[in-house]
Amino acid sequence: GVDRLQRVTPTMLKHFNGRKGRPAWSSYQGKVYNITPYIPFHPGGEGELKRAAGKDGGKLFMEVHPWVNWDNMLNECLVGIMIGENEGVE
Ligand code: HEM
Repeated sequence: GVDRLQRVTPTMLKHFNGRKGRPAWSSYQGKVYNITPYIPFHPGGEGELKRAAGKDGGKLFMEVHPWVNWDNMLNECLVGIMIGENEGVE
């Protein structure tokens, strides 16, 4: 549920870019997904999906396939919600 979602700052999102053994996260409409397990299954290829790693993938996604329901497909991969940079400071 929503209670286990992490609050993710833009800096954190950049960190999880799939490099150096880190998972690949990508945000869409303010929600953050761990896309790592989906990468090998992406019909458009691994390289294309990885372009969205560590970033907001919404624009790329909408340019290519606005008809795909990512919310539905990646529900199991939801890890957090985006917050502002300074909202992360406790
Ligand atoms: C194809 C899912 C992100 C590029 C597809 C298809 C699905 C899909 C279901 C098949 C669509 C169809 O046949 O109608 C996803 C999901 C994404 C994602 C769930 C987010 C996590 C991206 C991104 C890019 C991209 C960020 C580009 C940078 C493509 C391309 C195809 C494709 C080029 C077309 C492959 C072809 O028809 O030859 N994707 N995608 N996708 N995707 Fe994605």
